[in-house]
Amino acid sequence: MVMKMNLLFFLVLLASAISSSLAKGSLKQTLVASEVNKCSNASLARHLLEDESRAQTSVNLAQGYMSNTDLERAIKEFGQRCSNISRIYSIGKSVNGVPLWVIEISDKPGEEESEPAFKYIGNVHGDEPVGRELLIFLANWLCDNHFKDPLAKLIVENVHLHLLPSMNPDGFSLRKRGNANNIDLNRDFPDQFFFINDDEDSRQPETRAIMNWLRDIRFTASATLHGGALVANYPWDGSEDKRTKYYGCPDDDAFRFMASIYSHSHYNMSLSKEFLGGITNGAAWYPLYGGMQDWNYIHAGCFELTLEVSDDKWPGAAELPILWRYNKMSMLNLVASLVKTGVHGRIYSSGDGRPLPGSITVRGINYTVRAGKTFGDYHRLLAPRDKYEVVATMPGYKSKNTTIWLDEGPVTLDFVLDPEISVKWSVLQNVYACNCNGKSKQEFVQFLGGAHLEVYFALIVILGFLFLLLQRRAKVKCSTSRHLPVAKRTVEV
Ligand SMILES: *[C@@H]1O[C@H](CO)[C@@H](O)[C@H](O)[C@H]1NC(C)=O
Ligand SMILES: *[C@@H]1O[C@H](CO)[C@@H](O)[C@H](O)[C@H]1NC(C)=O
Ligand SMILES: *[C@@H]1O[C@H](CO)[C@@H](O)[C@H](O)[C@H]1NC(C)=O
Ligand SMILES: *[C@@H]1O[C@H](CO)[C@@H](O)[C@H](O)[C@H]1NC(C)=O
Ligand SMILES: *[C@@H]1O[C@H](CO)[C@@H](O)[C@H](O)[C@H]1NC(C)=O
Ligand SMILES: [Zn+2]
Repeated sequence: MVMKMNLLFFLVLLASAISSSLAKGSLKQTLVASEVNKCSNASLARHLLEDESRAQTSVNLAQGYMSNTDLERAIKEFGQRCSNISRIYSIGKSVNGVPLWVIEISDKPGEEESEPAFKYIGNVHGDEPVGRELLIFLANWLCDNHFKDPLAKLIVENVHLHLLPSMNPDGFSLRKRGNANNIDLNRDFPDQFFFINDDEDSRQPETRAIMNWLRDIRFTASATLHGGALVANYPWDGSEDKRTKYYGCPDDDAFRFMASIYSHSHYNMSLSKEFLGGITNGAAWYPLYGGMQDWNYIHAGCFELTLEVSDDKWPGAAELPILWRYNKMSMLNLVASLVKTGVHGRIYSSGDGRPLPGSITVRGINYTVRAGKTFGDYHRLLAPRDKYEVVATMPGYKSKNTTIWLDEGPVTLDFVLDPEISVKWSVLQNVYACNCNGKSKQEFVQFLGGAHLEVYFALIVILGFLFLLLQRRAKVKCSTSRHLPVAKRTVEV
């Protein structure tokens, strides 16, 4: 059906191109018609098709797909069947009050660990329901196989995987793209170039639920599942000047790497004739604004892909098991890439050894990844390359950097940062350390305030002496207790 319409549409375009060029009186220009299939026009074709397919959706289409009630039941049943490795929670409600249920899968669901978190979101567009089914397949497969399959085991033990099968349950039941207010949720996020979506209170409830979710959980990466094409799409989705052109984000290499993991693990995504390698930069395909993908990268430290998993937006339900088979390895490998690639580690204070919620940057890439508050852990996705200079910073501490070599496997890299203390402060602090209550501190300060010049002089001499002594001691201490960060290679689990 869709193929037919594609053809039909192509013919219409062809005809209109020919007639318009005939009108201009130049036969040569009919050649332009052969350009119709190129990117920009292809996306135009796709947009128009979206409207067509919306019109022709019928009740029959839903046959074999889970209704919202079925989906809720499936999620809850999963939670009971696989309670060992899962937790069910809701991140909010749709316009019509349907809970946005999430399945978290991990050997310690709901607990904070020094592990990366990944999320999959399905059914962002109401009329693209394949994702919501695929995520239920994925959850059940992980539950059934985490004892026997090494990849399932790796994911369950080392990642916190969150699955939101439907972000747009209202759109699904209405068989349309937007939510119940007819808003396209993938155009409803604050945008980096246009500010119409900046007022957070005016966002749709589904959008706000996602934004709050990302403030709650520090996701390292994620992917949304769409339909209507077969390609892995990566940021930026919008270009500054609204033109259709390649517009890469600072982490273009890492994104191309991630998108390629998906397309090359897929049954035939990488064989695409339209998209080289089955991947595309968003703006190079067609620019869009207010998208979820760019917002994730800019505001949540989360590397998000937009996956178009089937040419047909709403294929017959009989095709769902096949689509699961085609996407299964891609979905698993993308999640596992959080453990199997990139730089991971923790940031500590050299003083008391406590974890620091510092930041990680990489020289030459204008992007910051934050470490966690509880464990000081960070997870920095990077494409394999022979050399990266990784810098750890934390306010009040001296930053440190190390060069690493990143081939196929991951690198574990811990940082131990030294407090940055000015000389005067360090001496005073040591003096304070001797009288350990607040009252004597105050007295000391008052004493300083009221003293005469001679006293100041004597004090400076004494403090100077003390400082030298302490510094020497500190040096000895540092050289013995401080272990320099060493690039150690983790074993592949
Ligand atoms: C479609 O292609 C034609 C010819 O290449 C071009 O003039 C036109 O701008 C394209 N349409 C869009 C929407 O880019
Ligand atoms: C749950 O965990 C326990 C202990 O690890 C194990 O014995 C049991 O088989 C697990 N059950 C399921 C359903 O995975
Ligand atoms: C991938 O396989 C499906 C099912 O066989 C087919 O419909 C689709 O055209 C193929 N796509 C590519 C890019 O080979
Ligand atoms: C780095 O990115 C920020 C936005 O995140 C931007 O404001 C800044 O200008 C960029 N710096 C450089 C040197 O490109
Ligand atoms: C890395 O450390 C060296 C000294 O160890 C310093 O010269 C250099 O500026 C640092 N680079 C960055 C990006 O901080
Ligand atoms: Zn979509």
